[in-house]
Amino acid sequence: MCGIVGYIGKKPALPILVSGLKRLEYRGYDSFGFFALDKNEHFLLKKVGKISEWEKNLLDISFAGNLGIGHTRWATTGAVTQANAHPHFDCHNNIFLVHNGIMENYEQVKNKLIKEGHNFLSETDTEVFCHLIEKYFQGNLEEAVKQALREVRGNYGIAVISKKDPNKIVLAKFGAPLLVGVSKDEYFVASDPSAMVSYTRQIINLDDNEVAVISPDNHFLLKEKPLEQIDWEIQEAEKNDYSHFMLKEIFEEPDVIQEAIRGRMELDKGIARLGGLEQARERLSKIENFILLGCGTARYAAMTGECMFEEYAQLPTKTEIASEFRYRKPVLNKNTAILAVSQSGETADTLEAVKEAKRKGILALGLVNMVGSSISRETDAGVYNRAGVEIGVAATKSFVSQLSILALMTVYLGRQREMSMVTGRRILEEMKKLPDFARKILSQADYIKELAKKYSNYRNFYFLGRKYNYPIALEGALKLKEIAWKVHAEGNAGGEIKHGSLALIDESFPTLCICPTDSVYDKMKNAIGEVKSRKGKILAVVTEGNEEIKNMVEDVIYIPKTLEMLTPILSVIPLHLFSAYLALELGLDIDKPRNLAKSVTVE
Ligand code: G6P
Repeated sequence: MCGIVGYIGKKPALPILVSGLKRLEYRGYDSFGFFALDKNEHFLLKKVGKISEWEKNLLDISFAGNLGIGHTRWATTGAVTQANAHPHFDCHNNIFLVHNGIMENYEQVKNKLIKEGHNFLSETDTEVFCHLIEKYFQGNLEEAVKQALREVRGNYGIAVISKKDPNKIVLAKFGAPLLVGVSKDEYFVASDPSAMVSYTRQIINLDDNEVAVISPDNHFLLKEKPLEQIDWEIQEAEKNDYSHFMLKEIFEEPDVIQEAIRGRMELDKGIARLGGLEQARERLSKIENFILLGCGTARYAAMTGECMFEEYAQLPTKTEIASEFRYRKPVLNKNTAILAVSQSGETADTLEAVKEAKRKGILALGLVNMVGSSISRETDAGVYNRAGVEIGVAATKSFVSQLSILALMTVYLGRQREMSMVTGRRILEEMKKLPDFARKILSQADYIKELAKKYSNYRNFYFLGRKYNYPIALEGALKLKEIAWKVHAEGNAGGEIKHGSLALIDESFPTLCICPTDSVYDKMKNAIGEVKSRKGKILAVVTEGNEEIKNMVEDVIYIPKTLEMLTPILSVIPLHLFSAYLALELGLDIDKPRNLAKSVTVE
């Protein structure tokens, strides 16, 4: 889990590496480092901290080398120290390497290398790559890399430079993303396109087990592959007038709903048009059960989808934690399909679950935001979110987009089964109103900010919801604890609190209740009563016009009335804002919460 960059061309490498790495900080930000080469001179720097905090100093460094690599780290093996920051190097300062991934057999290989006389300076698995390559190096770097990789188990995206075989960067990938950006007489390397989009829009995605060599003089030794185009603008990766990406992305939620449904509805027929599923249409119509897979926020979207698929498409559906799926022994048959939900399309746990499903020969679909990502390439068919780049580490707009597409998929699958045209049309017509409803909620931002301030003195929160809004309670709690990490939050199903957690509740432990006027409204009211009787303070998300709950609780946030299955798309918006404002009130960096990373590419 980390971000890597590289450059080889005619310009000084360092400023390009710094700007690229800044864009990859969401992948990890506990330490960073660079290596650049200029004939026999080299430049090596490693620091603990975020690159954005050091940017000015870094841009003052003048080093002419036009070949280099860089890395931003999210610690997996070895503590957060300067010695453990990348790039790592071999015993003779010849081989310099950055790595994203995990070498699973590193202890075994390391012990062997120590016996052979290698001297290690860090606790990382990455350094083992350097010494292993050193062992096989006889003047040709790519040959040494190939031989070394035969002894490696795990996943990796690596970029390697050797002082004794200069003028090239050797790249290799297995299970972690690695791209090459192509421009005239220069090449860029990165874990994702945002690091290179200001220099080139033409990229090549490396394949697993591929070893590539890039050099400035047009030697591009990758196997024949078409260039792909990056189809988004650099402005998408800028904060514009917002103080933080997370806030910008929450305020984009109405637009991502709009984008998710654009051109995907045939209202008169009551059907959803999902082009990416067409090639699987026939198989999908025969599917008898669905397994939805995801991690973190994406899993909560999947749980909401499960509710939708079962109620409206009558399709037996189950959500699984992606990291658990492949290690359990799930009962699958030829009429089972999986749907992997992932913003990045790179989450290793989800990707491995997809591979497992494919090994078992079942239909694997994806709901992915990043075009061309590993999950989108690994699945048989799928739908793209079109939510644009999401930079804030905590997923927000991608979640709202996932819910919107899962609602469309419900219509798609339902209409293949028993759903009537009238029901299909009713859902779609209601979905068309959602962007405006979402805007209306966001127009209450100042009020929600005030509420966040009012509740910012509490250190524990409970989130409750039922049925469609149970996963929203989980998402609300996750969002709050991940970005406002000084507070603890737990989410639960409204009916479950009386079976244990009620013991926690008193005046110091407020509860956020998601309680729209729907089929479980009365039952949620019971939960509210149970909390109130224990002196718990309540902030409730309720349907516009509801006076009853308003009179029972401390504070309410109103959301417009919509179909029950679509309420989560609206009810989560105030929770996203609430957590962002509360974390800001506590002085925290909402874009880069401690210990986390956006895209976790290790299992
Ligand atoms: C990480 C992020 C979460 C995200 C999860 C799944 O844990 O911190 O915000 O929900 O990965 O990411 P994905 O890209 O697969 O949706």
